[in-house]
Amino acid sequence: PTIEFTCPDGSRRTVEARAGASVMETAVKLGVPGIVGECGGGLSCATCHVFVDVDQIDVTGRATDFEEEMLEDAMTPPTELSRLSCQIAMSDALDGLRVTIAKEQQ
Ligand code: FES
Repeated sequence: PTIEFTCPDGSRRTVEARAGASVMETAVKLGVPGIVGECGGGLSCATCHVFVDVDQIDVTGRATDFEEEMLEDAMTPPTELSRLSCQIAMSDALDGLRVTIAKEQQ
């Protein structure tokens, strides 16, 4: 499945993700700039903040209550489209996912 990232500098990168890998893992592994993923996906850092495309938030699902609490501490103020990208596992259902990476992560 592919993911289209809009990076903090406004550039776009489309990459092929492995099914089962998280959006954060995919970005870090493929060198997409802007996602830090400091805690390695442990849901304890909020440095993997992304905004999901408004047309796709129902497919990814919204942030869980705990994720929302973490997002309150994110450097870039969260919106209702915010997710911690380590919590989005890629699958064929998410093919073509578009996310905008938060400008500041730490
Ligand atoms: Fe730390 Fe996502 S990588 S919360």
